[in-house]
Amino acid sequence: MLLDPKPKSKADDLFGREQELEALKRSLTINPITLITGMRRIGKSSLMKVALSEIEYVSVQIDVRRVYSDSSGSIGKMDLAAALEKQLTKRSVAKKLRGLLEKVKGISVMGNSISFDWRKATFSDILDKIDSSGEPFVLAIDEAQYFRYYGNRGGKSIQNLIAWSYDNLENIRFLLTGSEIGFLYDFLGFNDYDNPLHGRYMNEIRLRPFTKEEALRFLDSALRESGMNVLRKELEAAQDLLDGIVGHLIQYGLHRTGKDHDEALKEALRTAKLTLRRELAELKKRSPRYLLALQFIALGATKFSSVLKAFQASGDSVSKSRVSDALTVLQKMGWIEKKGSEYSLVDIVFERIFREE
Ligand SMILES: Nc1ncnc2c1ncn2[C@@H]1O[C@H](COP(=O)(O)OP(=O)(O)OP(=O)(O)O)[C@@H](O)[C@H]1O
Ligand SMILES: [Mg+2]
Repeated sequence: MLLDPKPKSKADDLFGREQELEALKRSLTINPITLITGMRRIGKSSLMKVALSEIEYVSVQIDVRRVYSDSSGSIGKMDLAAALEKQLTKRSVAKKLRGLLEKVKGISVMGNSISFDWRKATFSDILDKIDSSGEPFVLAIDEAQYFRYYGNRGGKSIQNLIAWSYDNLENIRFLLTGSEIGFLYDFLGFNDYDNPLHGRYMNEIRLRPFTKEEALRFLDSALRESGMNVLRKELEAAQDLLDGIVGHLIQYGLHRTGKDHDEALKEALRTAKLTLRRELAELKKRSPRYLLALQFIALGATKFSSVLKAFQASGDSVSKSRVSDALTVLQKMGWIEKKGSEYSLVDIVFERIFREE
């Protein structure tokens, strides 16, 4: 069903995204690390789940936010071990990996049951043995930015594990995404030479908002599927205010099934704004300059030189290279795009909200 507030897991429920799905499946066959990036509520977890349901190799999926919430404020080896064990003992996975896992120190297999002694078993041993199968094995990690709470060194041992696997194992594929892409980039060491992962190639699948036509077709199909036939002009009004972020369009659709157009739109816009405010607060925590740069662009400073001037006019004597770094990060995070020499905000809802503030 299209109007489902939870991430999709079946290809039939995934609207559009055919190209991204193909690109992702291809990437998993060859790249040790693949990232799915894009703004909040744009469909990253859905794409991950659908791809995993379609590929023929063995995969496991871990949601680190869940591991974190089950932990006592910092994720320890046992917390992650419990999550991994649950995945590895799933029938479909265990059936294929049993023979390899029984060779790992600390793991014993008896008939259909696999038992783990985590005082002896290590993550690297497990990956090493699984790698020897000669087939790709996908370790998909959602909300991977929560790994910064692993251990007491900001997740360094996980970064080392991924870096070691990248350097030494042929068949292990990490697929990473998360709702706080900025923190995910930080965890992966994009701008940090001291991070063990810095400089390693990561193939990025970036999700963009639906175009106007896609958004209208999506709303129309989703509402029809739920038995509603909504006037084109109402759909256009919804698209105009909510733009192409599928999660926001779904909010409108869900409200629309029980309310009139104006009410549904008001509710959906309220949720979209709340999501945006949370995202902006996150961005500000990383650097207040990111937020300022977005505001300057929303207010019309579309060229590099005018963004720089706007910073100077605000009393911030920031260097050219700092501004350039900030714009690159904002582009990578999917907030802005650059066409020729002009920057613009990717999402018009955000642009409107920035103008209002
Ligand atoms: N291609 C799609 N077709 C139909 N519905 C989709 C699609 N992509 C995402 N959705 C829906 O949009 C909402 C948000 O999707 P999802 O949770 O996958 O996004 P996300 O980018 O992972 O969000 P977050 O940033 O909050 O983690 C869900 O209701 C999901 O069912
Ligand atoms: Mg998600």
